[in-house]
Amino acid sequence: MSRFARRITQTSEKNYGMFQKAAAKSATGADLIHLELGRPCHDTPDHIKQATIKALLAGKVHYSDLQGELPLRQALQKKLAEYNNIDVTAGEILITNGLTQASYAAFMALLDEGDEAILLEPFYPQHVNKIEMTGAKVVLAPLDRDAGFSIRKDLIEAKITKNTRMIVLVNPCNPTGRVYSRAELQDLADLAIKHDLIVVSDEVYEQILFAGAEHISIASLPGMKERTITMFAFTKAYAMDGWRLGYLAADAALMPGLMKITMNEVTHVNTFIQDGALAAVTGPASVMQDMVDDDQKKRDLVVRRLNQMAGVTCAMPEGTIYAFPDISATGLTSQQAADALLDKANVVVEAGGFYGPLGDSHIRVCFGSQSYQRIEEGMDRMAGFFNAL
Ligand SMILES: Cc1ncc(COP(=O)(O)O)c(C=O)c1O
Repeated sequence: MSRFARRITQTSEKNYGMFQKAAAKSATGADLIHLELGRPCHDTPDHIKQATIKALLAGKVHYSDLQGELPLRQALQKKLAEYNNIDVTAGEILITNGLTQASYAAFMALLDEGDEAILLEPFYPQHVNKIEMTGAKVVLAPLDRDAGFSIRKDLIEAKITKNTRMIVLVNPCNPTGRVYSRAELQDLADLAIKHDLIVVSDEVYEQILFAGAEHISIASLPGMKERTITMFAFTKAYAMDGWRLGYLAADAALMPGLMKITMNEVTHVNTFIQDGALAAVTGPASVMQDMVDDDQKKRDLVVRRLNQMAGVTCAMPEGTIYAFPDISATGLTSQQAADALLDKANVVVEAGGFYGPLGDSHIRVCFGSQSYQRIEEGMDRMAGFFNAL
């Protein structure tokens, strides 16, 4: 009677990283500094909240357009054309419950049992289980660790078989903080076209860019619009992680399949929060820029301090809210380092191995989720730990 389906029993256990160990230590009353959580520290800007409250009070509490409210999709169509260089109609946009549901729809709509989906490693762990639940197989293709985790065409092409259906891209990259160049994306696009593959592109950090880094959407490259599902969210740049609001852009030919999944799963996204999303897209960009400027100050602090610690070297992230320092010179694995930092320094970071074996010489430090003072305190504690090794 209590038998679970194969999609539960024959897929890997969902891994929560340091979450459970940190929760256990926290329960003992320890004052932990959380540098593992990948969420913004800012509050959602006021004009977004006000627009949502207004919609709620005006009675926007009923079922709505299954694909998402038309004014929001029209505003996103303009944003996609101007910012991402992706030319889609409002009919080629689907509003989703965060990026999480957009990727679920993409995988469920396009992957069959026996298909292979390539994840570039280090990968974003949430993508793994969702791909497995479709019955498809996850295949890891390494990024070039010695060249700052860049995309190397031959390393990816070596993983393509007759069963490969898609490549999953995360750009800007969590956990490495890399923002891929046009040449790297062109290499990936060439592979997708040559082998007739779909690209599922997770661009949740598209607006968190530092010091002139340029975000390029792979769907904007020639021949890619029809074979790319590009996924976005209000989560990070607008500090709306708890709102659960995202969207995807895909060619009209793909939309019926994507809609079939979301309609059966959730019907559609909450109606009144879509007015908040509209205010976010059409509102002042300066509000968002202030938050990114704040993230950049924290990034500079974290990278400078990490590079002063014994056995730690850290490249400068070009985007996202993560630093991904190399700790191999300490002789510790990433899990040993993360466990010891929790035990001895009351600092929570994520082990790089959580993002695949290639990340095992690194730890991930989120600089976006705490105040500047708290991060400074975290850096003091980490320096005490590494310098005493
Ligand atoms: C790469 C990446 N994709 C997706 C998500 C989840 O996005 P959402 O909260 O919009 O579902 C995250 C959140 O940390 C992320 O880092």
